[in-house]
Amino acid sequence: MLALTVNLSDRSYPILIGPGVIAAADRIIEVLTSPRVLVVSNTVVAPLYLQRLTAGLHASDIHVAATILADGEANKNWQTLNQIFDGLLAERCDRTTTLIALGGGVVGDLAGFAAATYQRGIPFIQVPTTLLAQVDSSVGGKTGINHPRGKNMVGAFWQPRLVLADTDTLQTLPDRELSAGLAEVIKYGLIRDLPFLTWLESNLDALLVRDGGALAYAIERSCANKAEVVAADERETAKDGGRALLNLGHTFGHAIETGVGYGEWLHGEAVAAGMVMAAELSRRLGWLTAADLDRVVRLLDRAGLPVRGPRLGADRYLDLMGHDKKVLAGQLRLVLLRRLGEAMTFADAPKAEIRAAIEHCCGDKGI
Ligand code: NAD
Ligand code: GLY
Repeated sequence: MLALTVNLSDRSYPILIGPGVIAAADRIIEVLTSPRVLVVSNTVVAPLYLQRLTAGLHASDIHVAATILADGEANKNWQTLNQIFDGLLAERCDRTTTLIALGGGVVGDLAGFAAATYQRGIPFIQVPTTLLAQVDSSVGGKTGINHPRGKNMVGAFWQPRLVLADTDTLQTLPDRELSAGLAEVIKYGLIRDLPFLTWLESNLDALLVRDGGALAYAIERSCANKAEVVAADERETAKDGGRALLNLGHTFGHAIETGVGYGEWLHGEAVAAGMVMAAELSRRLGWLTAADLDRVVRLLDRAGLPVRGPRLGADRYLDLMGHDKKVLAGQLRLVLLRRLGEAMTFADAPKAEIRAAIEHCCGDKGI
C-alpha cells in the first residue's frame, strides 16, 4: 500500500493507494466522529463494491445507511443532490454523521457538495473507483454540480478526511473510462512533471492492460503532484499559475462537455481534446515546437483518447468558454504550455489565434 498526505494544516488528510484498501474499515473508523455513516453510491458501483466497503464497518457495529443514485454525468444536478439530502434526513443524520462517497467523480462531486452543505457541513470520506477519480477528483476538495449553462458552476471547497483509492476496483472499469482517467494522468506530466511524462510514454501499455504496479505508481505520482499544488493554493486564488494549472485543457474541454450535452463526451475525453487545443495554441504562440505537439497528440492517441474536438464552431466554443471559472473581469485566462512539463496561465492570447487553434483541432477524428 502507498500512502500520501495532503498537507492543509489541521485539515490534512491521508490518501491510501493499493489493492484491497476499500476494506480498510479500521482506517475509516479512526476518522469517524460518531459510529454512523451514510454511503452515497450509484446503481453501477454499489452492486460491485458496497458490500466490500461496508462489511468491516458492520462488523465493528458502525450504523451504515446508503443512498444509491442514478448513474451518469447527466445526473450531476440539483435533483440528484436533493436525493442525498433526502437520504440524510430520512436517516436522521446529524452533524456527526460521516458521508462516504463510493464511485467515480460524479458521485464524489455530488456527495462532497452534499457534505459541504448538509447542516452547514459534515465530515466526508472519498472512496474513488474510477482512475479519473483516484488521480484527480477525490483529492483537493472541489465539490459541486453542473448547471445547464456551465460545467461545475455550483459547488463548494470541502476537503475529505480520508481518501481510499483501491486499485483492484479498476479491473471492472470499462476501457473507455480507463482511457478517460489517463487524460488526467497525462495532464500532470504535461503541466509540471516531465520525468513522469517520459515514464508514461514508456509504460502506457502496462497501464492499458491494467498492471497493478504500474497503476499504483501512476496514481501515486498523480496524487503527489495534485497534493503539492492544492497545499500551495487550496482555493485557486493565486494570481498566476497555482491550482488553475490543474485545468490544462479544461476551458476547451468544459465547452465541449456543455456544448454537446453532459454525458455525450466523457470528462477525460473532453479534457484530452482540450489539451490538444491548448498545446496547438502554445505552438502558435511560439512556446512548443511541432515535435512537442506531436508528442502530446501521440501519447493521448495511444491512450485511446480523442485528439480532436467536435465541430461546434469557434464562435460557440468561445461563447461557452466565456463562462469558465478562470474568467476574471470578463477576461479569458487559459492554461497553456510554456514547454512540455511546465504550464502557465495566460490572459493575452489573441482571439484570432485561439479561434485558429480551435478550428485546427476540430473535426473528423473526435469520438
Ligand atoms: P463517473 O463518475 O461518471 O464514472 C464513470 C462511469 O464508470 C460511471 O458509469 C460509473 O458508474 C462507472 N464506474 C465507476 N467505478 C467503476 C468501477 N470500478 N467499475 C465499473 N464501473 C465503474 O466519471 P469520472 O470520470 O469518474 O468522473 C468525472 C466527473 O468528475 C466529472 O463530473 C468531472 O467534472 C469531475 N471531476 C471533478 C474534479 C474535482 O476536482 N472535483 C476533477 C476532475 C473531474
Ligand atoms: N481538477 C482541478 C482541480 O482540482 O483543481
